[in-house]
Amino acid sequence: MTSLLEQAEQVLEKAQSGINPRWYPRYHLAPRAGWMNDPNGLVWFDGWYHAFYQHHPYSPKWGPMHWGHARSKDLVHWEHLPVALAPEGPADKDGCFSGSAVVDGDTLALIYTGHKFHGPSDTDDNLYQVQCLATSRDGIHFERHGKVIDTPPGLHHFRDPKVWREGEFWYMVVGSRVENTGQVRLYRSTDLREWHDEGIFAEADEGKGFMWECPDFFPLGEKRVLMFSPQGMAAEGYHYRNLFQSGYLLGDWQPGQPFTHSGQFTELDHGHDFYAPQSFLTPDGRRIVIGWLDMWESSMPEQQDGWAGMLSLPRELSLVDGRVRMKPAAEVTALRGSYYPTPVRCLNNQNVLVAANADAVEVQLAWDLSASTAEQFGIALGDGLRIYVDDQAGRLVVERRYPEYSLEGTRSIPLPADSVLSLRIFIDRSSVEVFVNDGDACLSSRIYPQPGERDISLFANLGKASLYDAGYWSLDK
Ligand code: FRU
Repeated sequence: MTSLLEQAEQVLEKAQSGINPRWYPRYHLAPRAGWMNDPNGLVWFDGWYHAFYQHHPYSPKWGPMHWGHARSKDLVHWEHLPVALAPEGPADKDGCFSGSAVVDGDTLALIYTGHKFHGPSDTDDNLYQVQCLATSRDGIHFERHGKVIDTPPGLHHFRDPKVWREGEFWYMVVGSRVENTGQVRLYRSTDLREWHDEGIFAEADEGKGFMWECPDFFPLGEKRVLMFSPQGMAAEGYHYRNLFQSGYLLGDWQPGQPFTHSGQFTELDHGHDFYAPQSFLTPDGRRIVIGWLDMWESSMPEQQDGWAGMLSLPRELSLVDGRVRMKPAAEVTALRGSYYPTPVRCLNNQNVLVAANADAVEVQLAWDLSASTAEQFGIALGDGLRIYVDDQAGRLVVERRYPEYSLEGTRSIPLPADSVLSLRIFIDRSSVEVFVNDGDACLSSRIYPQPGERDISLFANLGKASLYDAGYWSLDK
């Protein structure tokens, strides 16, 4: 282990014992201590799922990026491993930025962005981002091979390589910025070391993003999905409300051909906090996505507690009627402990307590929309979170209210056309993920309940609300 990695381990070991657990997730992956952002290098290798992530071990704030590392047999119970990469230079002297992992024979290969300034770091003119390679036989200790793709002439922002195998070649998509236009560039290789520039793969229309971060490209059903995280899309009505977005373009592609698509960018998650998702394949061929459950520049109250950032639950993608659906990976049910049915079937202008002091639960609700007349009906966690139907607007709303941390406001989606609204709601100590009608939509947000603000109740205001079914599982680690 290099001295920088050893130093990171020592600091983490010490800091870990000082973490305040009040908002630390019980069943999501978060850093042992310090800062986490994007998931990186998600891969199945040697009998384990590996999750790497953007990590600053030295403080709960973003800083020179390392790659944190954890592994799991089932995508929900994670074991922390030593930090995999530190910014040791020269190619990555100011940070090991986001990237991906592939299995090459008996080797695990990480392809990531080396971030470096030539001169003072106060201007992008001095910024250079290059793509780097590191490999491992044991999946834990990595040998660094340095830069494999240099910054193209004239570019500065050029990052987040996602590599996949297709036929006899490796392919890589990389996000980039040309003046104020976000782009994805394509490369091809036979050995992960020598890369051939295949040109611009996709780029933003006017006003649709000055930088496209974290591109990912994969087949789904009969189509190809280009998933990415654009910076700089203006809000339009209910869409694109977060500082940055994450979503996809759907199209067709074959090696050697251009990517053809409709140009229609669709958001993947409609909550306050979901960014930089990355996908990977399970050994049985399911396409799973995990995202960072935060948003750049949002307040992150857990920083007071010695840590920051967490990853979403693993979500399985499918393509139905030209739309990407996203539902919890089947493995998530492995977290379930006891089931507590809620006998309530009808609420008439009332509040009903469902669970006291809940910090790790999966709530399932099936509302009968055609038999519900209340102006608002839904579920609440303390006074800070409500997930409800707004009958007048015809929308399902996630509302959070933590004014003490400047975290307030709503996100919402239109109600489904049919009369059943079925919800799977995953609550952890500082997060909520709402899955609607078995993959139709998803809303994910961070929440920060105070002690005593974790009672779950159902409510109906100004009218009646009717349920086919209700209950919850306690989720056990
Ligand atoms: C996305 C991102 C990436 C970059 C990384 C740096 O959240 O900005 O583009 O590689 O975070 O930590």
